[in-house]
Amino acid sequence: MTAALDINITKVETSKLLDMTLENIPFGRYFTDHMLEADYENGEWKNVEIKPYQPLLLEPSVAALHYGQAIFEGIKAYKDKDGNVAIFRPQDNFKRFNISAERMQMPVVPEEIFMEGMRMLIDLDKNWVPSMKDHSLYIRPFMFSSDPVIGVKPSESYKFMIILSPTGPYYTAPMKIYVEEKYTRAAPGGVGFSKNAGNYGASMLATALAKKAGYDQVLWTDAFEHKYLQEVGTMNVFFIIGNTAVTPSLEEGTILAGVTRDSAMTVLKDMGFEVIEKKISIEDLMDAHRAGILYEVFGTGTAATISLIKELRYKDYVMHFDTDKWKTAPELKQRLNDIREGRAADTHGWMYQV
Ligand code: COI
Repeated sequence: MTAALDINITKVETSKLLDMTLENIPFGRYFTDHMLEADYENGEWKNVEIKPYQPLLLEPSVAALHYGQAIFEGIKAYKDKDGNVAIFRPQDNFKRFNISAERMQMPVVPEEIFMEGMRMLIDLDKNWVPSMKDHSLYIRPFMFSSDPVIGVKPSESYKFMIILSPTGPYYTAPMKIYVEEKYTRAAPGGVGFSKNAGNYGASMLATALAKKAGYDQVLWTDAFEHKYLQEVGTMNVFFIIGNTAVTPSLEEGTILAGVTRDSAMTVLKDMGFEVIEKKISIEDLMDAHRAGILYEVFGTGTAATISLIKELRYKDYVMHFDTDKWKTAPELKQRLNDIREGRAADTHGWMYQV
């Protein structure tokens, strides 16, 4: 438990929820009635408040807009059949947020502002947490440098905010993925492990080209040889090879340490799989495919949850999968959703009650 937070709360007069339904809403387009905002100035966090969701008034010179000192997190809250709201592993996102902050030379956010602020905000907007299957409340904490100065240096002032967005399923259909061999997401010593905004901006050209060629996302490969597999677009990636579950290891600091990735590894072990984190090359993967032992390929992420991959293309080699016949990824998704949506016991202590 975190210490209670003494903050100003200003509530909306009329909820926007009266004008909308929470069923099948697209990811990230609608926001709840309230948001949390805090300022970092003169070495301390202040002005922590919850107030009606509203535009920000910023000077055009604000440093984040120019140099990208900006980080974020993605977390989800769920409502069980009795109407109780719980957040999935928010403490892990809190830790990762401050790892990103450190890498981007930004101040750490204290636990009581991040955790208790988030809990209070969700409690206030709990009517916005959808209870339908595969629906949730997506939580977006973020921080950006706010000095109105265009000198290239770490800012002295920062804004930390949390906004909330009710959401339906992110990717619904099984995906087609293109193995990227020209563009690079991350190199050792870089920022691949951090959840900074620039990682996503930098990914958009390769993704747009893949889309033009009929693919949904790219599978990133290493910066030097474009040979070792990293992660897919907005997700970590898993391969079921024989009776092992293989996922690229985090060792080189080029891959985001996904909370869903970690949860998937735990649940796959519960399901009896040997889970192996290792450096895996596209050649290894194609060998497994040729040998007929590459059974399933899927992505894991907060927004995406578990997303099945029905086609993987590397140069002219295309791996097709009949996802209707798969057992592992669907069972993993079901088990995770059952825990999140309160249908299965939370044996790993992942749910944080609001
Ligand atoms: C998430 O899965 O939460 C992400 O942050 C990925 C994407 C929506 C940016």
